Amino acid sequence: MQILVTGGAGFIGGHLAARFAEDGHDVIVLDNFEPYYDLGIKQRNVEQGRLAAEESSGTYTLVRGDIRDEEVVSEAVADADVVFHQAAQAGVRTSVEQPQKVNEINVDGTLNVLEAARDSETERVVVASSSSVYGKPESLPYDEEHPTTPVSPYGGSKLAEEQYTRIYNEVYGLPTVALRYFTVYGPRMRPNMAISNFVSRCLNDEPPVIYGDGTQTRDFTYIDDVIRANETLLDTAAADGEVLNVGSTDNIAIKTLAEEIRDQLAPNLELQYDERHDADAEHTHADISKANELIGYEPTTTIREGVERFTDWYRENRDWYEPLVRNS
Ligand SMILES: NC(=O)c1ccc[n+]([C@@H]2O[C@H](COP(=O)([O-])OP(=O)(O)OC[C@H]3O[C@@H](n4cnc5c(N)ncnc54)[C@H](O)[C@@H]3O)[C@@H](O)[C@H]2O)c1
Repeated sequence: MQILVTGGAGFIGGHLAARFAEDGHDVIVLDNFEPYYDLGIKQRNVEQGRLAAEESSGTYTLVRGDIRDEEVVSEAVADADVVFHQAAQAGVRTSVEQPQKVNEINVDGTLNVLEAARDSETERVVVASSSSVYGKPESLPYDEEHPTTPVSPYGGSKLAEEQYTRIYNEVYGLPTVALRYFTVYGPRMRPNMAISNFVSRCLNDEPPVIYGDGTQTRDFTYIDDVIRANETLLDTAAADGEVLNVGSTDNIAIKTLAEEIRDQLAPNLELQYDERHDADAEHTHADISKANELIGYEPTTTIREGVERFTDWYRENRDWYEPLVRNS
């Protein structure tokens, strides 16, 4: 199968592209190498994809291009059987500084992808959305029927992105699915996220820094679970036209997470606290029954197991990952 992964040099797209190449598919990655964090991490993601293709009957092609460029997008989408659209300006705080840029990439860029797919024989477009669309939850855990009140330009852009995705199914009959990811973590993850920060700081004998009082809770979802949800959509139409929560097995307070990582890696350190950012959601907690029912989604990695796997990976890759993560 020919598969296009937009944002395939990024964290989640990189894992997706490598997995599809490993499984013998012909993978095209479209990514503009946005310098939002150290590009060395993206180069590693690309290497991983190439390696996976070399070791299988798959192929891996990198196209450096921008999803805001209609022509580039049409060309990349033209021969793809399935598109996994991961390219976006991620990060809530960046969106507070540059809301227009975020809208151009996340909303206009997504429209380019959907429009190109409408014009070709694309079998399905799977779009990465986010728990940020919920913003201020009224109750926890929440399912997809829960009202959406994003509290950041990023959350607003993701809501628009997934609504267009659903609308292209409704109006044009294009098979589409939007997946609302909940704080994804794992090897080669983005810098400046709680888990990469806590692990990196503790291993360097620096106290983990918590923004706010740490009572905020999150569904941290291990990358393998997210990849499995996407993979299922290669050959099922069961969720076409739908928006699905892709969350984790359990929910944890940021303070508890920091304490657990600290206790394992550097028990003598005191936690540090800094000002909370208003655009960060207070709580995220997914009800995943719909994804379970429609595509059999069942996350299996607990936060303990996931953090342990990430920490082991971090130690093994410390020589190259740590300087890049701390540089971003
Ligand atoms: N990581 C998470 O916790 C999380 C949670 C919810 C949703 N998401 C969504 O999942 C997707 C992937 O996130 P990620 O964590 O892998 O982020 P990432 O930043 O690592 O990956 C995104 C990739 O998109 C590329 N990109 C950005 N602008 C582009 C443009 N204009 N043209 C082409 N490529 C462009 C970047 O260079 C990057 O490689 C995003 O859509 C993000 O909004 C991620």
